[in-house]
Amino acid sequence: ITIYVPRDSTALALGADDVTKAIMVEAVRRGVDLRIVRNGSRGMFWLEPMVEVDTPDGRTAYGPVSKEDVTVLFDADFIHGGTHSLSLGLTEEIAYLKKQERLTFARVGITDPVSLDDYLAHEGYAGLQRALGMTADGIVQEVLDSALRGRGGAAFPTGIKWKTVLGAQAAQKYVVCNADEGDSGTFSDRMVMEDDPFMLIEGMTIAGIAVGATHGYIYVRSEYPHAIAALNEAIENAGKAGYLGPNILGSGKTFQLEVRKGAGSYVCGEETALLESLEGKRGIVRAKPPLPAIEGLFGKPTVINNVISLATVPLIMARGAAFYKDYGMGRSRGTLPLQLAGNIKYGGLVEKAFGVSLRELLIDFGGGTANGRAIRAVQVGGPLGAYLPESQFDTPLDYEAFAAIGAALGHGGIVVFDDRVDMAKQARYAMEFCAVESCGKCTPCRIGSTRGVEAVDQIIANQNRPQQIHLLRDLCDLMLHGSLCAMGGMTPFPVLSALNHFPEDFGADTAQKA
Ligand code: NAI
Ligand code: SF4
Repeated sequence: ITIYVPRDSTALALGADDVTKAIMVEAVRRGVDLRIVRNGSRGMFWLEPMVEVDTPDGRTAYGPVSKEDVTVLFDADFIHGGTHSLSLGLTEEIAYLKKQERLTFARVGITDPVSLDDYLAHEGYAGLQRALGMTADGIVQEVLDSALRGRGGAAFPTGIKWKTVLGAQAAQKYVVCNADEGDSGTFSDRMVMEDDPFMLIEGMTIAGIAVGATHGYIYVRSEYPHAIAALNEAIENAGKAGYLGPNILGSGKTFQLEVRKGAGSYVCGEETALLESLEGKRGIVRAKPPLPAIEGLFGKPTVINNVISLATVPLIMARGAAFYKDYGMGRSRGTLPLQLAGNIKYGGLVEKAFGVSLRELLIDFGGGTANGRAIRAVQVGGPLGAYLPESQFDTPLDYEAFAAIGAALGHGGIVVFDDRVDMAKQARYAMEFCAVESCGKCTPCRIGSTRGVEAVDQIIANQNRPQQIHLLRDLCDLMLHGSLCAMGGMTPFPVLSALNHFPEDFGADTAQKA
């Protein structure tokens, strides 16, 4: 009998370790012989800790399980799929999961994250095996043909980035994974690292072989201790089995991989600040050009990609570019792991092909707000993303469609606010966040954000509203066009969207006069 209890941080925070202990104690007491696998999370957070049991029909789920439920679950014979009020039926039949297109997240929640055998049994390393039989140009071409675009938020074509690094002449090149997932409401990178770390490792190894880099670094934010532990364990297991290190699978290719821990700075998620930090310096943004693809880590050509971009590569290599490209709409091909958070009834991970509407995600998947009030605004794409009002909920999730309404998909984080939200306060928060996290290198961001906080404070206090709104718009214009990086350059998105879509929160009459 095999029982699955997730080891993902979400489940751990909700008592998964206590549930595991309780199941072990109860099994011993009843003389039942069972094996507990600590799997990843299926990403349905309101059901965590979600316990699963292997049955002849497939895995059956129970949740949310607390340690107090364990005795009655045994009484209901859950170890053979018996029914109980916590029964959720066959896991694969749960509508939230069944309606998804899980490509990158196909294994997440199914396997033991640090078991190489489990990974291999579920299509793991099929992509690397294929890549080892291809030329560097061939691998890069496959990634280009898949139309994969950077999932960190900028949506730059991954294949073009790799091609630039492949073409750069240097004795040493690097692959760096940006795992400094700092956007509000996001957790897809964390889930990949905790729940399927080999996938990221395989993706980076393929990137290394493709561009001729022998060293890779994963820069993980310090707030992710479980991800760091899972990655280190998986790296060790992959190395022992010959999937990492010198002479990978007898191919003569070398790829070494190390995990580096960040120190809690949001701007270190900006690629050049991340590289500075990785080199042991203060995390300050570098001017571009030169691009990291030409002069990156330690001045060498560097592939720097987000976790999801790299984690998608094994599947593209295993199934072929055409398979992946077949999903999606317009120039946004494939799938995006979306993250539903904030005031939402069914928060969690939803992987869907591009083209799904925000409304489908918020209502069909999310079930509306957690407290049943109306949704007033959603922020998509992190703290630098725009606030969208209800009238824009039918916008399809597509990079170009979002750009057309002055918004950004970013890293796929969606944070929901109900009708009690004060949008002037949200605008203030955006400016304050920028002021706190600014690296200080350029004036529009460093000074503009602080002046922005002051302007919003005056608007809220109803002091010189028309002038202050005028000033706020001026500051946004300056930050948008004059900032060195996305930190200052995108802060105007939440501020202006709040001002434009919710003018009543800024004193509507005066806002119009300004
Ligand atoms: P960018 O548009 O300047 O660059 C995108 C990427 O393409 C970079 O890696 C750049 O080096 C590379 N690139 C551009 N031209 C190239 C060429 N010819 N050859 C090779 N590589 C090339 O955008 P940036 O500043 O890197 O990222 C901004 C985005 O980051 C925003 O859109 C935002 O959504 C996102 N973001 C994500 C966060 C997260 O937690 N995931 C947090 C904050 C922002
Ligand atoms: Fe630094 Fe802000 Fe300028 Fe970016 S925009 S370089 S974070 S001061």
